[in-house]
Amino acid sequence: MGEVKLNQLSKRFGGVAALSDVSLSFRSGEIHAVVGENGAGKSTVMKILGGILQADAGTIEIDGRLVEIPNVLRARELGISIVCQELNLMPDLTVAENIFLGCLPTKCGVVNRREMERRGAELLKSMGVDISVTSLAGELSVACQQMVSIANALAIGGDIVILDEPTAALNTREVETLYGIVRDLKRQGKTVIYVSHRMKEIFDLSDRISVLRDGRYVATVETSASSEDEVVSLMVGRAVTTHRASVSGRGDEVVMSVSGLSCVGFYEDISFELHRGEVLGFAGLMGCGKDELVKSLFGLYRPDSGVVSLDGQVILDVGGGVDKLSCPRSAIELGIGYVTEDRKGSGIFAAMGVLDNVLGGSCRLNKFGLLDDEKEAALLAEYTESLDIKYTSRDQAISSLSGGNQQKCMLARALATQCERVLILMEPTRGIDVGAKSEIYGLLEELSKKGMSILVVSSELSELLSTCHRLCVVFQGRMTGLLDQADFDEELVMSCATGQREFYSGASKG
Ligand SMILES: Nc1ncnc2c1ncn2[C@@H]1O[C@H](COP(=O)(O)OP(=O)(O)OP(=O)(O)O)[C@@H](O)[C@H]1O
Ligand SMILES: [Mg+2]
Repeated sequence: MGEVKLNQLSKRFGGVAALSDVSLSFRSGEIHAVVGENGAGKSTVMKILGGILQADAGTIEIDGRLVEIPNVLRARELGISIVCQELNLMPDLTVAENIFLGCLPTKCGVVNRREMERRGAELLKSMGVDISVTSLAGELSVACQQMVSIANALAIGGDIVILDEPTAALNTREVETLYGIVRDLKRQGKTVIYVSHRMKEIFDLSDRISVLRDGRYVATVETSASSEDEVVSLMVGRAVTTHRASVSGRGDEVVMSVSGLSCVGFYEDISFELHRGEVLGFAGLMGCGKDELVKSLFGLYRPDSGVVSLDGQVILDVGGGVDKLSCPRSAIELGIGYVTEDRKGSGIFAAMGVLDNVLGGSCRLNKFGLLDDEKEAALLAEYTESLDIKYTSRDQAISSLSGGNQQKCMLARALATQCERVLILMEPTRGIDVGAKSEIYGLLEELSKKGMSILVVSSELSELLSTCHRLCVVFQGRMTGLLDQADFDEELVMSCATGQREFYSGASKG
């Protein structure tokens, strides 16, 4: 059970051929990774199999039988469950309700709430995650939402499980948890289709890897007989160089200084300095408080005590009554830019076009106070080129771009709002392919060389290690490490992140 054959699927969106003649087959009991650059067509294939989209041409066979999958309900009947790349939990329903969405436990036709909550809690516990089943889904972090979506796929219990970028917001520890879940599914003989941009995961987990490029099928390889280099070059058709931040970018001048910052329930007594041209990373497990800490510097959380200065000026002094960081708007006025990790929820304006998403927040008026068409076109063209954003027209709805290209638009927007001092990036390469990732790393380096100071929060440790000049590690709301590049070491960071030790590089202490 669970054999899938996709035969010559094609799908167009207006002028864009998202898929041309793609044939793929998945065996039961295997973990089959599907990879490709942003916009290669991975999610489109998954959505067709999941009944969310209809192919224009081609057929689908399950266990040797031709099937039609006109909707999600039919997909479920066929035993297919899908965790979409753009998470779509019901924000006003509880975690338990979301887990059992589509398969609510009933008693005499009435939803058995108690049973639902009990089973939900059991399922989450078996997944090793600590999320209350009675919280509203809309209040969860992106990482927790990802876990709940996965729980939903498990609760549905089909033979074919599709995970489209399931780990984009998860860190090392949670990824391990997911590995356990995925391997369990394999042991039960299920078919797991796994879409990810993280090469390490793909090689750790999968039995076979299929590659798509520009909407076409390229190849399928046995994972054990292949290598990262081979897969990457199949994906992009060229070799990609790995990136390492150069220390030279970092100056001595202190741009932002944070001292004794606390926010009850999230983080406590945090102090650090951010230098001109420095890329400072924040590492830590899910829920450690690093997200809230960094978001406080953009006015998204209210610290209870502590002082923050920018270019020597106090901008926040909780005890002293200075509060210029009360909201994102005032942060922007201070020259602080921000890219959210919650692209779908609070990042994009889904129905609006690419142009308005990128430039909507910035001044693009001519001397008569009117929108300056030429200036707009030039600015957009500049970002499109420097970030290599792919879209068909500047009015194309941003929600129709591939995930990675949406992310690039978010980055372009932050740059366009003329943040001059500090740029805050939450999960900057979430869902971005290897090629584009190294482009973005290069871009961060360029910005830092120009004197921009950057704070990066990422759940991908390898990303932090290769892009940052220094790394701040947070465990249970407290800083447990501040590492200079010379001391960067994955194990050291993990032991600080799990509270096993503290480490401060010589120069960073104090
Ligand atoms: N609803 C839509 N309307 C218009 N174009 C679309 C739509 N959905 C996808 N596309 C286009 O189809 C192509 C394939 O997109 P898809 O989302 O399948 O890529 P992907 O491989 O999942 O990329 P990523 O790694 O960025 O998630 C892209 O060029 C994308 O812009
Ligand atoms: Mg996708």
